[in-house]
Amino acid sequence: MTPSSRTLEANPTGLRGLLRDLRSPVVSGRASAPALMPEQLGDPAFLKEHGVRYAYATGAMANGIASEALVEAGSKAGLLSFFGAAGLAPARVEAAIDRLDKLGAAPRGFNLIHSPSESDLENAVCDLYLRRGVKLVEASAFMGLTPAIVRYRLHGIFRGADGRVVAPNKVVAKVSRVEVAEKFLAPVGETLLRELAASGLITTAQAELAAEIPMTQDLTVEADSGGHTDNRPLVAMFPAMIALRDRLQAKFKFKNPARIGAAGGIATPDAAAAAYMMGAAYVLTGSVNQSCVESGSSDKVRAMLAAAGQADCIMAPAADMFELGVKVQVLKRGTMFAQRGAKLYEIWKAYDSIEAIPAAVRSSIEKDLFKENLDAVWASTREFFLKRDPSQVVRAEKEPKHKLALVFRSYLGQASRWANAGVPERVLDYQVWCGPAMGAFNEWALGSFLQEPANRNVALVARNILYGAAVLTRAHFLRCQGLTLTPDITRIEPLTAAELERLLD
Ligand SMILES: Cc1cc2nc3c(=O)[nH]c(=O)nc-3n(C[C@H](O)[C@H](O)[C@H](O)COP(=O)(O)O)c2cc1C
Repeated sequence: MTPSSRTLEANPTGLRGLLRDLRSPVVSGRASAPALMPEQLGDPAFLKEHGVRYAYATGAMANGIASEALVEAGSKAGLLSFFGAAGLAPARVEAAIDRLDKLGAAPRGFNLIHSPSESDLENAVCDLYLRRGVKLVEASAFMGLTPAIVRYRLHGIFRGADGRVVAPNKVVAKVSRVEVAEKFLAPVGETLLRELAASGLITTAQAELAAEIPMTQDLTVEADSGGHTDNRPLVAMFPAMIALRDRLQAKFKFKNPARIGAAGGIATPDAAAAAYMMGAAYVLTGSVNQSCVESGSSDKVRAMLAAAGQADCIMAPAADMFELGVKVQVLKRGTMFAQRGAKLYEIWKAYDSIEAIPAAVRSSIEKDLFKENLDAVWASTREFFLKRDPSQVVRAEKEPKHKLALVFRSYLGQASRWANAGVPERVLDYQVWCGPAMGAFNEWALGSFLQEPANRNVALVARNILYGAAVLTRAHFLRCQGLTLTPDITRIEPLTAAELERLLD
């Protein structure tokens, strides 16, 4: 026994305390649990590759909800934090790059989101990242590989002195489908490489090197989550993705096998511990971070989120992929957005133009949702798209159903902005992306200082989750060796920043 280890015999009633002292092993006869710090959870190669202290990422949240302040706080605490670039104009994203450049070499990344209805925007953001030397992106919403994401990944690729192919641009790809995962865990396909080389977007030398690396080094498996989600359970999906990675690794024999991380539903020590136990190289959180003080949302939304229970989420039409019938998971409690969005989708399905909507239906949505005449809504929507993507206006003026979709999408899009800005007269229209992780966190924080959203900050929440996950992992070791652990031993209470500093730093 090492001098620092303590036996249960020496402290038979103090198992709770021993388990929490993570620096010391716990030993009891034949049962023991090693010292285990949060830095040891997940894959050490992930820590090394990204230069982070913890195998814990905070995911991008659109419209700057994953704000500069959130990324700064995460980065300083040793997390891998992604700025929420989706939905923002390139100039606004560039302002974020300017501010986050002040972090120097400290890790951070930016979202590169697939925009099926706005491929110009996807390309413009990709160009911006290449021009500004952004070295890490979180790629999301992809249904397959696009020229933009491939161009980003292969930019600056070279063969190092040791013979390994080095891709300076890193991609952490978030997926919830095996078919999409397959694309990211394999080298870029030959046909796409040939097309890109033929159009001069990559060189033939880059195309050759691309065959030796997977499209992404880190793949986040996203289960039922806030925002875009297929509502799949993590425990079912994660092992399937690991199996896929293993199969592709056996086939391609990459020098550095891709890592698989877990997201969706993770906002408690228990969930994080379970994800690491399944083999997650890292965990990634979303919903819980929106309720933290650094998020780009409003205090009103933070209060609504802090009051959410497990079942207070619902699927609603997505603004960006409205016509495809794609849905996003949002907060149900305290807002009528989901019902109102669903109503707009039904109307869009049923009618081919603004003029075809029956008068009673039209006046009801004008009065309750838009609070103005649909013709006036079209006028402002038209102005918006003339600046952002004029091809949409050209198409809408030829196709009345597309015009109707743009008008309805304007409500869905603004509903998120009203929430972020905390516009008081629009509370019932707030679109707040949120998954069941929020209710799980609230349940865990109930009765503690973290119940109050003003006390939630991203680093404190992350370090609590990580600390608790380490305690629970040790408890699991002891249980496997025949010890019965009562709830008073395994219950993890939220700790203050000062307490965590004492225990972890
Ligand atoms: C408010 C909000 C906005 C989000 N926006 C984006 C986004 O723009 N891009 C993206 O890749 N993921 C987005 N996500 C997903 C998160 O990055 C993360 O993957 C997810 O929230 C994890 O699941 P959880 O909500 O159960 O924690 C968003 C999530 C939330 C809650």
